Amino acid sequence: MGLGDPPNQMEILRIQGGTHLEGEVQVGGSKNAALPQFAAALLSEEETILENVPDLSDVRFMGEILHHLGASVERVGKNTWKIKPTNIQPNAPYELVRKMRASICLLGPLVARLKKAKIPMPGGCVIGHRPIDLHLLALEDMGALVSLNQGVVEVDGHDMRPCTIFIGGRHGSTVTGTANAIMASVLTDGLTTLDGAACEPEIVDLCEMLTKMGAKIKGAGSHKLTIEGVKNLHGCTHRVIPDRIEGATYILAGAITRGKLNIKGILTNQLGAFTKVMRESGVNLNPLGDDMLEVTTTSEELNPFEIITLPYPGFPTDLQAQACAFACTIPGLSILTERIYPSRFMHIPELLRMGAKVSVEGPNAIVRGGKRLNGAPVMASDLRASAALILAGLVADGETWLHRLYHLDRGYEALDKKLRNLGAEVERLPESSLPHSFRSPLD
Ligand code: EPZ
Repeated sequence: MGLGDPPNQMEILRIQGGTHLEGEVQVGGSKNAALPQFAAALLSEEETILENVPDLSDVRFMGEILHHLGASVERVGKNTWKIKPTNIQPNAPYELVRKMRASICLLGPLVARLKKAKIPMPGGCVIGHRPIDLHLLALEDMGALVSLNQGVVEVDGHDMRPCTIFIGGRHGSTVTGTANAIMASVLTDGLTTLDGAACEPEIVDLCEMLTKMGAKIKGAGSHKLTIEGVKNLHGCTHRVIPDRIEGATYILAGAITRGKLNIKGILTNQLGAFTKVMRESGVNLNPLGDDMLEVTTTSEELNPFEIITLPYPGFPTDLQAQACAFACTIPGLSILTERIYPSRFMHIPELLRMGAKVSVEGPNAIVRGGKRLNGAPVMASDLRASAALILAGLVADGETWLHRLYHLDRGYEALDKKLRNLGAEVERLPESSLPHSFRSPLD
């Protein structure tokens, strides 16, 4: 099975609005847990097997990068990968790294295992300013020499030593920064303490995988982690946790269409502040066991809400766009404050094209909800914006045509197919099938 099948640039999604979603949907493995775990496999020469890995272009990219570093990478079945990094080298290729920021997670494992790494600095990102200063500061605090040479971060980790460091930043903790600091210190003899660490479930899952490989980590899930370095790590078999962001996106799909859904495989205790906001807005979330959730709405008329995006367990920034689309359908004033990526509002101009009433003031999106949305051709700017526009299309009058579908395929496995199984009229089509009236005069 190919490692890196190119995303289909020319596909668009046609969404016919007006369906109340109904039925059962299964949540897949977490993208943001799987990507750092692919990197973590590099910490041992032995084979690691990752199960419940989502079938996404980002995952295939990561597999390609590991392959380029010299690891044997094999996909066995749709959601299982075997990684054997017996002989690896420290240089990651710009051509691959530039496609995916999460490749920065290679830094920690390469420095720990090979005592050096050369990783191109990630470029710009549409969701906002995303520096890696905290990643590099953590390595320097651990005794590594860090330099930037023609856009490539070069790290010499021969003098790494145990230490106590604070890795929080202006916007709170850093998720992949914490992952990198953990992975950089698991092979450093002595006790390393990370203060201000991220508590995301993806970090807890990474620590569980590393512990299976023989690492000694305490405090996973808290802001204070202690890592006792070991000489070597061995391979392991690990099942990736479910994707809480995908699961919550389906909760919002059920709520926005005022439907009735059962969401399977979602860990309800990982939804943090999101659950509270949903309930306050009038969405019923009824757990059916540990990993099944029934989603219904009390009435057509729901309550406007306010959110502030924060690190876990606060309201996830990766759900802000989808929640914004939901707020557009609720009469009244909703306010969404984006504290993690203050300019992460690329979905709003597209929602305005659908007739929504939203204004942006600094980090706040102010939604005057309740106005009926109209179908329109819209453009996805990033992964979560594409999900938000699909949710809006599900309730809009007429057809919505979503361009740049490759953004969606980076983070949602078969979302259109899953929505069709819930009764939605959604289909992937070649761009050439766009109605003439929707074509840009330039086409
Ligand atoms: C992770 O990105 C996720 N990606 C993002 O999901 C998610 O939006 C983000 O965490 C926040 O929850 C993966 O896990 C692969 P951060 P990450 O470092 O680790 C600032 C999606 O849609 N910061 O926690 O890159 C940063 O600018 C993606 O799936 C620094 O200032 O995010 C941001 O404001 C998008 N310096 C804040 O911290 C640094 O060195 C949090 O970023 C690092 C971060």
